[in-house]
Amino acid sequence: MKILLLGKNGQVGWELQRSLAPLGQVLALDSLSNEYCGDLANLQGLAETVRTYAPDVIVNAAAYTAVDKAEQEREQAFRVNAEAVALLAQAAAQIDALLVHYSTDYVFPGQGAAAWREEDAVGPLNVYGESKLAGEEAIQASRCAHLIFRTSWVYAARGNNFARTMLRLATERDSLGVIDDQFGAPTGAELIADVTAHAITAARRDPALSGLYHLAAAGETTWCGYARFVLSQAVGLGVPVKVSAEQVQSLTTDAYPTPARRPANSRLDTQKLQQAFALNLPDWRQGVARMLMEIQGK
Ligand SMILES: NC(=O)c1ccc[n+]([C@@H]2O[C@H](COP(=O)([O-])OP(=O)(O)OC[C@H]3O[C@@H](n4cnc5c(N)ncnc54)[C@H](OP(=O)(O)O)[C@@H]3O)[C@@H](O)[C@H]2O)c1
Repeated sequence: MKILLLGKNGQVGWELQRSLAPLGQVLALDSLSNEYCGDLANLQGLAETVRTYAPDVIVNAAAYTAVDKAEQEREQAFRVNAEAVALLAQAAAQIDALLVHYSTDYVFPGQGAAAWREEDAVGPLNVYGESKLAGEEAIQASRCAHLIFRTSWVYAARGNNFARTMLRLATERDSLGVIDDQFGAPTGAELIADVTAHAITAARRDPALSGLYHLAAAGETTWCGYARFVLSQAVGLGVPVKVSAEQVQSLTTDAYPTPARRPANSRLDTQKLQQAFALNLPDWRQGVARMLMEIQGK
């Protein structure tokens, strides 16, 4: 099986390099790759890559993910998250390839407390969400075989992440306040990559599995709950924090204005994915605890 992986150095892309390796021959690209174009802003170059490599599976982990900046850079966000995705979908349809793509709970309006199901009405609150929704719609319109995974609150051990920032701030400051009225489930890039590899194998055997799925860790928390969990683990990890988990103050979204509006409800209902692929998604704390041990070298 020939797999084209785009966005190889992102949080999810990096983990996909590992999880896709046993499935076949992987051509992994980023926007600066030389021999083949992996720049999603270069539509012509991208089309040429698909034509010459002729993959059986295209996995698109590249995206314009700067949520606040997208409010000012609408055109660039749409080019990468919608136009390039439309091109990949049309190319996949032409060569009968399976297209794997990632989307977000930001396609939803974010009200209420129920976990979003795949068929719920969409209504993005910001430009990033609009551009990701346009990408989903382009894939569905192309009729290519596809797996679209909507995920949320993605973290990885590599690079900067929320947990690392909380650990740093808790060692530098005497107090810490974190937003406590946005709900979701921190989801590890490792988990997303492992589920993706499993789902590709299943969807190649059974084309009826083609479709849109919600993929997130089990359970729910707020950013404040997430920070408290991280700090509750800190002592065991030998991090000299000055702020304990109990001392983290609860803030409302209004106290922390950002250019892009965020949904208050990022919960995703993952029943469809778990049933279709016979999977069990672990609680979010399991992956976060593991990531903390990894970044602290434990
Ligand atoms: N992060 C989250 O919390 C979250 C939540 C829900 C859904 N998602 C979705 O999950 C997927 C993976 O996200 P992630 O967290 O792994 O994102 P990420 O770490 O920001 O990685 C995105 C990758 O895309 C690359 N990229 C940006 N513009 C590109 C272009 N023009 N051509 C080629 N590559 C380009 C980036 O490269 P550079 O760094 O070099 O620009 C980066 O390596 C995305 O579809 C995202 O929308 C993410």
